[in-house]
Amino acid sequence: MAKPFRVGLAGVGTVGGALARLLQRRREDLTARAGRDIAIVAVSALSRSECGPGLEQAAFYNDATALAATADIDVFVEAIGGADGPAYAAARAALSRGLPMVTSNKAMIAAHGLELAALAESNGAALAFEAAVGGGIPVIKTLREGLAGNEVRRVSGILNGTCNYILSRMESDGLSFDACLAAAQKLGYAEANPTFDIGGFDTAHKIAILASLAFGTRIDADAVSIEGIESITLADLAAADELGYRIKLLGVAERTAKGVEQRVHPTMVAKSEPLAQTMGVLNAVSIDGDAIGALTLVGPGAGGDATASAVAADICDIARGHVGLAFGRPVAALVEAERVPMQRHEGGYYVRMSVVDRPGSVAVIAKRMGERSISLEAIMQKRSDVGAPASEFVPVVLITKATTEASIREALDLAVADGVVREKPQVIRIERA
Ligand code: HSE
Repeated sequence: MAKPFRVGLAGVGTVGGALARLLQRRREDLTARAGRDIAIVAVSALSRSECGPGLEQAAFYNDATALAATADIDVFVEAIGGADGPAYAAARAALSRGLPMVTSNKAMIAAHGLELAALAESNGAALAFEAAVGGGIPVIKTLREGLAGNEVRRVSGILNGTCNYILSRMESDGLSFDACLAAAQKLGYAEANPTFDIGGFDTAHKIAILASLAFGTRIDADAVSIEGIESITLADLAAADELGYRIKLLGVAERTAKGVEQRVHPTMVAKSEPLAQTMGVLNAVSIDGDAIGALTLVGPGAGGDATASAVAADICDIARGHVGLAFGRPVAALVEAERVPMQRHEGGYYVRMSVVDRPGSVAVIAKRMGERSISLEAIMQKRSDVGAPASEFVPVVLITKATTEASIREALDLAVADGVVREKPQVIRIERA
């Protein structure tokens, strides 16, 4: 029997702990797949007491970099998190000595993935990060290997389980945003700082990684335009429902004639689309390729077990001797993408606003839209509920045909300046298949 494949694990929280349990539970089959037993022989954490079942026998380090640099192991698994700090230092230490590494750290890969991939290449080591995007969905392998024969035009997805859980629960149970976030945190979906989730930053890291894999471009996380879900209200969810849409936080990477668009924002998605039907903590990624047409992968996007499933698959690949290129191409072959600023984005828009309740108000808004060649597809004015106190404002929702971001923003700024619209209107982009 071959010698065991020795794993050094940094971080024993949600992901690390679930990995330890999974490797124990699936030991026999993983041994058959890898051709050798896979055993966690070293761990790092702040204190030994954090280490749960399956880690009792492992050598203990209180410094992840010391583990990565010196432990007698065959693969280094990073489950600490954070773009910089200990995770990044330990990753560099492992790859510098030619040690393969597996990580679930999307922030680190989005920020330093190319540098780490170059380090891995020059030292003949594997760098695997299936768990960094889509939790248990094998989307990295799909883009990197499975779709190598395609020119990918577009990748769009629900990439944050916390946001999808919040929007789904708000819609289905009419619960407040805060109550849904608290439930997501309790279930172990959210980041330590949930602003990363609800502000769209986690999705941005993930779409930046997918864009690179899809288009063969250098990761450009700073180019991602980011809006979170904090401003979405029950009124928006109800209006979306009435108009045949669901609101989802999407990450979208698209190759257009202008360059590569990378954006994260709440989006109106037609209920018939697979992405709209993806509820709860599930993630989904739709990929458009010239040979396959459209493909959608759906699965659990967050939580210990789902993430550990992806980490275990990477470990198993490496134990079998698979050392592929981290981004499917040598780092030197990745090209710089032309950035497309959000102002140049073209698409349909949903706008919800509080309009002054007097004759001609809607005509003023329509005029401002017309001046910028914006065509309206639908307009919906609600009367106040029977018995509600009289108000000088009425809610109006409109849907535009395709226009540019710059045009819609200008038209709305003018309508606000005209005094017919109160406050900042709610603007949500519509994604059409
Ligand atoms: N906080 C992330 C989410 C975990 O909610 O999807 C997986 O990256």
